[in-house]
Amino acid sequence: MKAWVITNYGGPEVLEPMEIERPQPEGGKVLIEVHYAALNPYDYKLRNGVAKMMTGNKFPKVLGGDFAGKVVAVNGEESNFVPGQIVYGFANVFMKEQGCLAEYTSISPKYVRPLPPEITEIDACAVTSAGLTALSGISRCGKLSGKTVLVNGATGGVGHLATKFMIAKDADVAAVCSTANIEIARSMGVSRVIDYRKEAVLKPGEMYDVIFDAAAKLTFSQTKANLNTPGIYCSTEESIKAFFASMLSMFGKTKKMCLSSFRGTAEDFDEMENLMISEGVKPIISQTFSFSDVDKAFQMLEAGGVNGKIVIQVKDTN
Ligand SMILES: NC(=O)c1ccc[n+]([C@@H]2O[C@H](COP(=O)([O-])OP(=O)(O)OC[C@H]3O[C@@H](n4cnc5c(N)ncnc54)[C@H](OP(=O)(O)O)[C@@H]3O)[C@@H](O)[C@H]2O)c1
Repeated sequence: MKAWVITNYGGPEVLEPMEIERPQPEGGKVLIEVHYAALNPYDYKLRNGVAKMMTGNKFPKVLGGDFAGKVVAVNGEESNFVPGQIVYGFANVFMKEQGCLAEYTSISPKYVRPLPPEITEIDACAVTSAGLTALSGISRCGKLSGKTVLVNGATGGVGHLATKFMIAKDADVAAVCSTANIEIARSMGVSRVIDYRKEAVLKPGEMYDVIFDAAAKLTFSQTKANLNTPGIYCSTEESIKAFFASMLSMFGKTKKMCLSSFRGTAEDFDEMENLMISEGVKPIISQTFSFSDVDKAFQMLEAGGVNGKIVIQVKDTN
């Protein structure tokens, strides 16, 4: 089968198309014919080798977490899936599962979900990691109805879904983005847009109940003066420092910090599907690339400035 693989850790040059053996659904796994895959910053971070302690040194390695596609075969009598079923989910590339930038992937059913008929494959694949990341943080921010929220990085993969989810929960959202993405931010129904390239994101006297830092560019101490009492700073930052800052903040009485990181629980999947079906939340897909242009899709994501999600059409199902 065709796959995009890395043959070592490194820059864009280590990502290449290759013919590799089609995997088998061993040990309770589900074999999926991949139709769509969506990119996330962790794809190029894993390519760079930032998590090599977890991802190991066995190459070639197929990248790509988010997918939608069709079940081809299952292994294990107890499987909840049947061949022919359309599904979406996450291939756990952090735990050495084969990624979905390939015609087929064989993965554990843990993060595989049947596709609800109301949601398209392309939308499901676009929201998986980014939407579940956003929801994990949102669930730690308490009741949002009537609350004032600042979303930093409001037009990025995580940020635009956090913005849409919080507006669906009746929060009053102010969006931070760059000049090029102002109209996109407005189109989501935010009450105010702040251009981080032209003005300060946090100004004296501008107060919020929640500051959701989807871009992971702020710190808890920077945001404290702009948080109401009680108030919460939520960040997507993935570092030991951010983890300890959030733990320490739990001893504070009024202003706290929490993290927004992928956990992929059934409850998070349920809530995301509910927000999409009942509240009409749709991801923004800035560009869909063909499977032969995965390298170009990586280049676009790494260059920055992308609004919403970049999707790869792995198989033309029409
Ligand atoms: N996607 C996931 O599954 C996931 C999971 C866990 C953690 N994370 C982390 O969450 C962060 C965002 O991920 P993502 O998928 O949303 O990435 P993304 O799609 O590349 O979006 C990044 C966002 O950050 C904004 N930004 C860049 N510089 C900024 C600045 N100085 N001030 C304010 N905003 C700025 C960008 O705005 P402009 O484009 O307008 O410049 C863009 O909206 C990353 O650090 C990532 O590692 C992501």
